[in-house]
Amino acid sequence: MGVSTRILQVDPQHPAEEIIELAAQDILSGKLVAFPTETVYGLGANALDEEAVRRIFRAKGRPAEDPLIVHLSSVRELPRVARAIPALAWDLGERFWPGALTLVLPKTPQVPLAITAGLDTVAVRVPAHAVALALLRKSGVPIAAPSANRFGHTSPTTAQHVWDDLQGEVELILDGGATTIGVESTVLDLTQHPPVVLRPGGVTVEELRAHIGMVQVRQAFLSPASGRPQVSPGMLEKHYAPRARLVYVHLAEAAASLEAMRRSARQFLEEGLKVGVLILEEERGYFEDLPLRIYSLGLGADEKEAAARLYAGLRALDQEGVAVILARDLGEQGMGLAIRDRLRRAASEVVE
Ligand code: TXA
Ligand code: MG
Repeated sequence: MGVSTRILQVDPQHPAEEIIELAAQDILSGKLVAFPTETVYGLGANALDEEAVRRIFRAKGRPAEDPLIVHLSSVRELPRVARAIPALAWDLGERFWPGALTLVLPKTPQVPLAITAGLDTVAVRVPAHAVALALLRKSGVPIAAPSANRFGHTSPTTAQHVWDDLQGEVELILDGGATTIGVESTVLDLTQHPPVVLRPGGVTVEELRAHIGMVQVRQAFLSPASGRPQVSPGMLEKHYAPRARLVYVHLAEAAASLEAMRRSARQFLEEGLKVGVLILEEERGYFEDLPLRIYSLGLGADEKEAAARLYAGLRALDQEGVAVILARDLGEQGMGLAIRDRLRRAASEVVE
């Protein structure tokens, strides 16, 4: 589209008033502002300005059928965008907001259909990041923001990632450093009973169950029923994908997965390809004798760290110019489920 893109450094804990003021002015005049949240960087626009919302779709190359998340500055603002709000929504908001939980609720007429892809429901959350919250408060409007990447590409966890994808498409990028959670929020559909997790993310299924009991997890990774309306339309195409061909290995035993990764790494190397692996720190020994690009997700005991490093790892290996990336399943405890979901959707090939 060819706008000039500005990056401004901002303190992630104590953002300077002048910078937030500038960013809020941009939002209120229909411009796009990328900003950090605790999950990933968002590409924000005034949610009440339909034309600005349309620009988000154009900037990302995102199909209009893929609805956006609306961000609020506090749980008290919920009635601005949602109606028929059940007690459960207030309860979850009190417990998990600000935080990495997105609730799907019936929408108010104020929310443009461009945001919800024509659905009568809206996805909403209050982000736990001082920059995002300051921007929301200062602008005084709900902000629609998908992850600030080109459609289908790995989500951004740094301002540089946003620049790499959206330079020339977004007026302002607020650089508040790397995000802490590193994968997107958990999307919970409260219009179904019991509530259904449509996308695992920063708030774990265990945490949700501990708080509200019965929660279903959408049968993930089923091939989409063709022609039928989807519950979460954004989940059909390949998402989160690096440029390299991602081979995702999910065998019953970790040892078998590592063996399969090693075998396939050797095959690709024999074909003369440049190969990268995403592994846990303690797995280096399996791969060190091969001429691979290794990116460590940290120690296996800390699946939060692995989640925080996942997207940066995919992007770093792409930067090194690898043709193939090998990664394995890390189980479904805690953030493991979100990691599985992202690798699954990003993969060109699944070995199971
Ligand atoms: O952590 C996050 O959620 C980040 C940050 C920026 O807040 N945002 C984000 O947005 O991940 P996006 O647009 O990349 O993902 C939105 C997800 C999609 O899977 C979409 O299908 C789902 O939310 N979604 C949005 N509105 C929905 C609705 N009305 N019903 C069902 N799913 C919806
Ligand atoms: Mg996204």
